[in-house]
Amino acid sequence: MDSKLRVLITAGPTHEPIDAVRYVANRSSGRMGVALAEAFLLGGFEVRLLLGPTVVGLGEGLKDEAALERFETAADLEGLLDRYFDESDILVMAAAVADYRPALGSSGLQSKIRRSKGGMRLELEATPDLVAGCAERKREGQRVIGFALEAPEELMEGAKDKLWRKKLDAVVANPLKTMGDVEIDATVYSASGAVHRVGEQTKAGFAKWLVEQVKGEGIY
Ligand code: CTP
Repeated sequence: MDSKLRVLITAGPTHEPIDAVRYVANRSSGRMGVALAEAFLLGGFEVRLLLGPTVVGLGEGLKDEAALERFETAADLEGLLDRYFDESDILVMAAAVADYRPALGSSGLQSKIRRSKGGMRLELEATPDLVAGCAERKREGQRVIGFALEAPEELMEGAKDKLWRKKLDAVVANPLKTMGDVEIDATVYSASGAVHRVGEQTKAGFAKWLVEQVKGEGIY
């Protein structure tokens, strides 16, 4: 029997279509989630990586040993989480999921919006909070780790609010500049009340630290 813990990791931005050729996106590179997938693999976990639209490179180990699925939109990712969350032991939600997406009319994806002399209004609709939806239905012993991107002066308050509001076991709080950067300056808030100020380091270094914490259950 395989006794490896199964970790489901989401990474990267979402692309939310405006029409057949345009989209709304964000600056996420997916580097943090990919580094986490590599570190969890090295740590002896069974890894499934759900990766958004990014060109970030995947190491050979990941390509060979992790299960990889790609997504474009928040809706795609929602479908993948519906399929894979229940069978995972830990969800690490590093993806930068769009909070709003263009409200497409019935022909939205088929055509290209034409240029006109006047301006145009883009109507956006809210996306569902995917990590909160997973945490809401998690089974006994299943763990959900989220990320929080915050302005420095709101880091602690914002991260703690997300920890409770989304019912997470832990949240990795980052200042805004982390998105797309090669380094991370993380503080981890746990549901137990523990606070880990990890400080500035490479995303690979942080990933290794997080895996050790998860193994020792020191993160929850
Ligand atoms: N997240 C999600 N679904 C969304 C938006 C965010 O699952 N529609 C997840 C992210 O993957 C991350 C966590 O929620 O793990 C926090 O993301 P963040 O963008 O910091 O928070 P938001 O809930 O979007 O709140 P705000 O943008 O107001 O800070």
